[in-house]
Amino acid sequence: MQWDTANKFLNGPFAPWAEESAAYDLPVIGKLPEDLAGALFRIANNPRFAPRDLDRYHWWEGDGGVAATYIRDGKASFRMKWVMTDSMKIEVEAGEAIYSGFVNGSSSAPATLPAGAPPSKNVANTNVGLFADHLLVYFEGGLPTSLDAETLDTYGSYDFNGGIDVLCTAHYKLDPHSGNMLFFAAVGRNLTWYEADARTANIIDSVTFDMGCPAMVHDYIVSEHHAIFLISPTQFRLDRIMQGRPGVLWDEDAVPGGSRFAVLDRRTKKVTWYDTGVMLAPTHFFNAYETDDKIVVDLHVIARLGNPAGLSDEPIESHSWFPPAMAWRFELDPTTRRASNRMLSGVAGEFPKINDALIGQKLQYGYFATTRDLTPETMTDGLARFDFDSGQTIVVEGVDGLTNPSEPVFVQRRGATAENDGYLLSLWWNRHTGLSELLVHETVTFDAAPLARVRLPVRVPFAFHGTWAEAEQLDAAIAAQRENV
Ligand SMILES: [Fe+2]
Repeated sequence: MQWDTANKFLNGPFAPWAEESAAYDLPVIGKLPEDLAGALFRIANNPRFAPRDLDRYHWWEGDGGVAATYIRDGKASFRMKWVMTDSMKIEVEAGEAIYSGFVNGSSSAPATLPAGAPPSKNVANTNVGLFADHLLVYFEGGLPTSLDAETLDTYGSYDFNGGIDVLCTAHYKLDPHSGNMLFFAAVGRNLTWYEADARTANIIDSVTFDMGCPAMVHDYIVSEHHAIFLISPTQFRLDRIMQGRPGVLWDEDAVPGGSRFAVLDRRTKKVTWYDTGVMLAPTHFFNAYETDDKIVVDLHVIARLGNPAGLSDEPIESHSWFPPAMAWRFELDPTTRRASNRMLSGVAGEFPKINDALIGQKLQYGYFATTRDLTPETMTDGLARFDFDSGQTIVVEGVDGLTNPSEPVFVQRRGATAENDGYLLSLWWNRHTGLSELLVHETVTFDAAPLARVRLPVRVPFAFHGTWAEAEQLDAAIAAQRENV
C-alpha cells in the first residue's frame, strides 16, 4: 500500500504494510543459534489509513503495530498486528484517518471527533516489551496498551493497577537487581518518576519535581542510585497541537543557560541540577554510572530538535528538524554542579543500546545504528559497536541490498559471563525485495557477516524500539494471560 506522495516517511523502508499477518518456518540464510530462544518484539510505525495531510505526515505519527519474531530450536515464526487503541477503533469504524498529525501541524482544520472519542490519538508506536506477565506497548502521549504475547490481540489500556493516570514514557528501565520497572511521566512542567514492582506491577515509589519548563523528555537513564534527565530547549506544547500547529518547539529561552541535567537521588528524592552550558537535545541514552567523585552519562545528542521558535508554524525539512546525532559523554561534578562534555564516537548514529542486564555499571561496549549518509530514502545505514575503553567504533555494513537497520537489541548468550558475549538482533530493509529481514550478529568478534538472516514475509515499516523476551519469560506471560482470560 502506498499513497501518492513523495513524503519520505511514506515510502521505501517507511512505506506502510496494509495487512496483518502470520507466518511459520521462515526461510533462514545461515543458522540461527541453538541457544537463542524467545521473541523479538518490535514496533512497526504503520499508518493504517491515508494521513489527513500526506505531505505533512511525520514518522512519529505512524499507527503502532507490533512485529514479533518467535525463535526456538533454530526455527522462526512471525506475526504482525496493529495495536487497537481506543483512538484506532474510532478510525477503523470511520474507515479513514480522523486525527491530525502533531509534529508538522495541519494545513486543514482538524476533523470533528465523534462523540466519546479520545481527544488525542494514542499512536502506541514507540516501544514494546514484557513486564509482570504483560506485553505492553508504549507511547509517551498516552497510557500503555496491553497485548496478548502470543496472538498480539489487544486487551486494552494499562495503568499499573491504577497507579498512573494520563501517560508514561516509552523508555522505561528495568532495575538489574530487582527487575522492578523504573519509569516516568512528563506532563507540562512536572515530571513524576515511578518504580513498579516486578511481580505485582504495583507502584511502590514515586516523586514529582518541576522541570522549570514544559520540556519534552523522551528518554532518560538510571545509574545505581540516580535517575538522570536532560532538560533541553525542546518543548512539547499540547496547546499548539490542539490548534493544529506544530507541537514540538526548539525554544532556547526555555533554558537560557543551556541544557541542564536533573539528577534525582532515588534514595533521598532530592533533585540536583547540573549545567552543561550548551544548547543541545538528547535523543537516547546508552548508560550512566557513578564513580567516587562524579556521575558519567553517555548518550546521543543533537544540535536541535523541533521547530525553531521563530519558524514555529511552518513544516521544517526532516534533517533540519532532527539533524544527525552523535554519541557524547558528560561527566557530572557534584562540587561545581557542572557537566563537562566530549564526543565519544565520530560516527553519526542513533538508537544506542547496551547489555541491559548491566545498566548502571561501567561498561566497555555500546551498540547503535549509524546515520552516516543523509540519503533521501533511508534513515540508518549500518550497525556500530563502540568500545568505551579504546574509543574505537566498528561498523557492520549491509549486504545484498540490505540497509536501514533498526535499533539493535542485545541478547546475552545463555550462561555467558562476559559483557559482550551475545547476539545483536536488528531488522533491515531489503531494497531489492521491499521486505524486511531479521539479522543476528555475534557480538564478541562483531563480524560483518551475520550468523543468520531470517526472511520476514512482510516489510516492517521502519520504527523506533523493541525488546527481546527470553523463552521462559514469554511462556510464563502467555500462561498467565491464558489463566486470566
Ligand atoms: Fe525513543
